[in-house]
Amino acid sequence: MMKSKKVKKKNILITGAGRGIGLAIAKAVEDVAENLILVTKSKESFRYLEKYFPRARNFNVDLSNEEKTTKFIANIKYEFDRLDVLINNAGFYVGKKFEETTTSDFEELYKIHLKAPFLLIQSLLPLLKKSDCPQVINISSAANFVRIPGESAYTAMKAGLSAMGDVLRNELQRYSIRFTTIHPNAVDTRNFENPQDFLAPEDMGDVVLFIVNTHPYCQISNIELSSVSDWRGNWPPWIPK
Ligand SMILES: NC(=O)c1ccc[n+]([C@@H]2O[C@H](COP(=O)([O-])OP(=O)(O)OC[C@H]3O[C@@H](n4cnc5c(N)ncnc54)[C@H](OP(=O)(O)O)[C@@H]3O)[C@@H](O)[C@H]2O)c1
Repeated sequence: MMKSKKVKKKNILITGAGRGIGLAIAKAVEDVAENLILVTKSKESFRYLEKYFPRARNFNVDLSNEEKTTKFIANIKYEFDRLDVLINNAGFYVGKKFEETTTSDFEELYKIHLKAPFLLIQSLLPLLKKSDCPQVINISSAANFVRIPGESAYTAMKAGLSAMGDVLRNELQRYSIRFTTIHPNAVDTRNFENPQDFLAPEDMGDVVLFIVNTHPYCQISNIELSSVSDWRGNWPPWIPK
């Protein structure tokens, strides 16, 4: 039997909230947030956040930089007494043949897709433990399942993020921290030519809001989603053969 849902506003931190999926998630969860903590990298996105989310606590941080990330985490710990939802979304995409992928591509992908979530989850654990209903939501990719040609380095990172979430779901169960990994296929964050083949960023916002609103006993482990008409594991149309 479903237990009744307690509606309590949450402290929600979203990385990569300045545009694309992260921005859509921020808009979707704004009404259920007591404090919305939004992080973006560029000054341009930061200015956008300051204009459209004036009540949010907006940060301009390069999460690929360990020193800056550590300072940012110290600020969060100083300003907030608890964190209810951490959403690791910031990232960028590299689609290249394996022979053309550089070690620099690999390292830059690693810093934002794997190392930053590791640092954030580990360092913010004390604040998550103070929440009644702590949740971590990691934005991985369907690349993790579909094994898409031309995405070896990107897929390695997303698979790592997904696997780390699977372990932490078990390891941190004693603190009742719920871990959800979302694996979207192509999302139209760039106004592509055939939008019907893509999810809209707002679809991701809807899914995250659903997860955030579930009762604290409800563990949603993994969600894979795509547009019904996407290219499903064939050679991605945007990577030259
Ligand atoms: N779009 C897709 O088809 C798709 C599919 C599967 C998974 N994903 C994943 O979904 C997430 C969001 O993707 P998206 O398509 O929304 O990307 P996007 O439109 O390029 O937005 C990326 C966001 O991440 C931020 N960011 C990037 N590097 C950062 C850094 N070093 N420090 C702090 N913030 C940083 C950007 O900040 P600025 O705006 O300040 O530059 C931006 O706000 C990524 O993890 C991506 O891998 C996307």
